[in-house]
Amino acid sequence: MTVHTSAARVNIALADCSYDILIAPGLLDAPASFDAVPLGASALIVTNATVGPLYAERLAAALASRHARVLRLELPDGEQFKTWETLNKIFDALLSQQADRGTVLYALGGGVVGDMTGFAAACYMRGVPFVQVPTTLLAQVDSSVGGKTGINHPLGKNMIGAFYQPLTVACDLATLKTLPPRQLSAGLAEVIKYGPIADMAFFGWIEQHIDALRACDAHALAHAVRRSCEIKAAVVGQDEREAGLRAILNFGHTFGHAIEAGLGYGAWLHGEAVAAGMVLAAELSRELGLASASLVERLRDLLIRAGLPVQAPVLSAQDNAGRYLELMRVDKKARQGEIRFVLVDDAGHATVHAAPGAAVRAVIERCRAQ
Ligand code: NAD
Ligand code: GLY
Repeated sequence: MTVHTSAARVNIALADCSYDILIAPGLLDAPASFDAVPLGASALIVTNATVGPLYAERLAAALASRHARVLRLELPDGEQFKTWETLNKIFDALLSQQADRGTVLYALGGGVVGDMTGFAAACYMRGVPFVQVPTTLLAQVDSSVGGKTGINHPLGKNMIGAFYQPLTVACDLATLKTLPPRQLSAGLAEVIKYGPIADMAFFGWIEQHIDALRACDAHALAHAVRRSCEIKAAVVGQDEREAGLRAILNFGHTFGHAIEAGLGYGAWLHGEAVAAGMVLAAELSRELGLASASLVERLRDLLIRAGLPVQAPVLSAQDNAGRYLELMRVDKKARQGEIRFVLVDDAGHATVHAAPGAAVRAVIERCRAQ
């Protein structure tokens, strides 16, 4: 299949289950994109009400030679539906169709569909195979890679879930053409994240190509997705279950998750919350003497050019910083009630630290939206 000879391939090397991330336009329509999937009787494409009408038919056609029956399930669209109730719809579909242990789940959509489908695959009959077919930039550069799956809880983002790796990830770059600009910007937040935590040369490249990326330039997007996946694969390859290093991928997420939960899931996009969260985390790094003011300014400028928010929304009129702190205590990096943050330096290294409450409060107030 021609798409395959030209597809970029990033391997994610894990002890039990290494797999490839394929990156190219047109993968969705190419049966060879799914060569890593064992032939099995049944497949279930899990998608949502927005992505399904655009791409499910084409994916089903590509899978017809691999599976005798290809079922489809459309979930409601939105972060607010990343819940037990929606997850149960996947189990309902599987059980009512008598899906067995050989059934392969295909997650067709953004991070919400991918996280929920992966979690359903981890749980159904104690584990069935699944494949990620990410269709947002955010999902292609982050959420489809590395096996974090799960749902939200009203008290905390992504708090219920499992580590469960896909058989393969097929990033069809052509699907990004239908992505709304706001969603593309949200994905750019996770691309930009890889600079301060791992590769400032890549950060410089993004600074030079941000306009091309926002214009959906095919070459620029291909490079951004590939480099992001390489960085993520290297981190996950060393620390699949986040015993330590993997936490650096959560740069900006401690504040960001508080923003998402505090405003109500879906009010801000995940990438938008991460963008404002990265500015807060960079400011905190500066406050604690790890990063320079110029790094914080470069980051802030790039996020603005990417079309992303850089100020911390007000979560409480009474005690704004207190509300942030309360929400951040349920972060997965917290230990014995102590909140820990991913902090960065100017050289593109990240470390995880606790921080004095006064410093965190000062940063939240300094970055507060007017
Ligand atoms: P999303 O899944 O909500 O998708 C964004 C929107 O774009 C949705 O309305 C969706 O229907 C639409 N869409 C998707 N593909 C499209 C296309 N090609 N054309 C037109 N519309 C399209 O959001 P997201 O930003 O992809 O993912 C965010 C989620 O990912 C959050 O729940 C976050 O917690 C999770 N996440 C998980 C990880 C992980 O490691 N598992 C990492 C980062 C984020
Ligand atoms: N998105 C953070 C991680 O995969 O660890």
